[in-house]
Amino acid sequence: MSAALPDGPLLDLPAEYRTPDAFENGLFTATHRLAETGLFTEENILRMLESHPRELANVSRMGHDPTVLEWSEGLTDGLSPADILAALKKGRLWLNMRKILDHQPEAAAAINKLYDDLEAACPGFTATRRSANVLVSSPGAMVYYHIDVPQNILWHVSGEKRVWAYPKRLADTPRDELEAIIAVKKEEDAGYDPSWDEDAFAVDLKPGEWITWPQNTPHRVENRVGLNISVSTEHYSPRAFKYVRAHRANRMLRDRFGLPLKSTATSGLGYSAKAAAYLAGRAVQEYVTKNRSLYHYPKTFRVDPTAPHATVELNGEPTPEAFRPREASAAAMPVTEPEREMANV
Ligand SMILES: [Fe+2]
Repeated sequence: MSAALPDGPLLDLPAEYRTPDAFENGLFTATHRLAETGLFTEENILRMLESHPRELANVSRMGHDPTVLEWSEGLTDGLSPADILAALKKGRLWLNMRKILDHQPEAAAAINKLYDDLEAACPGFTATRRSANVLVSSPGAMVYYHIDVPQNILWHVSGEKRVWAYPKRLADTPRDELEAIIAVKKEEDAGYDPSWDEDAFAVDLKPGEWITWPQNTPHRVENRVGLNISVSTEHYSPRAFKYVRAHRANRMLRDRFGLPLKSTATSGLGYSAKAAAYLAGRAVQEYVTKNRSLYHYPKTFRVDPTAPHATVELNGEPTPEAFRPREASAAAMPVTEPEREMANV
């Protein structure tokens, strides 16, 4: 299909978030026009899957209990894009097409336009090191409570999902724990307690809405209605990148040299000295890369749209109950009015 994008900005940024400080510290929803591009329809997702490197199109599954991390990956060898989409509709699965900006030029143009429009609407804000994933997920599927290192935005296109963000938990997260996550020493999935929902920002995200939150804010997601299609993007403002570098410098210098550094200031002599020392360490890349191996989830099943739950266990056993879609999942999770008013962030 042609790559013509609709005229005008592809997103709305509310007036109160049009400064870098307000935007980067904001937790809010607004609207976008990605649907008008026609790039994120089921039909075009099939086209994208056809050309996308299969190793960058992970299909995962999860249990039903948000407090028990049961995330694993599935094999899709030999399946066509239509087979994968059929399995996503039938099962309890999550497709993550990664590195969209590198492999899907038309979608990349639309996503870069979103970011360009964001920068234009928010003078002084720049989104560097952009990346994007396309997410297609089953009715009722979920993503466990976790923290992402970069700043992120979820652009929702189809279906409905409830998103919880936990700014109070960010404030309460022990510094060591946050530092470990940012230094890629620890899985991003952190323990979750349902009582935290009381202080959460919860919203039922509808097609055409986007949501963002301050960097490192814990969040989780449950699909509520239908097959869900979203674009998840990540970026770093210059400030956000320095912040990550400061945390990684703290962690590496302390691990390697026993220096008890605590400041996460992103300017001044302390930051410059740490950043310089950090950059001087040739082991940094190896350090981060080695610790990334923690992110490999086990491969436990094969995706199969003809199987009862759209998955077949690699160990030959029946699919555990925890990974079966529940018929009445939509009824069991009634859609409630969004709670849009936000706590201080
Ligand atoms: Fe996330």
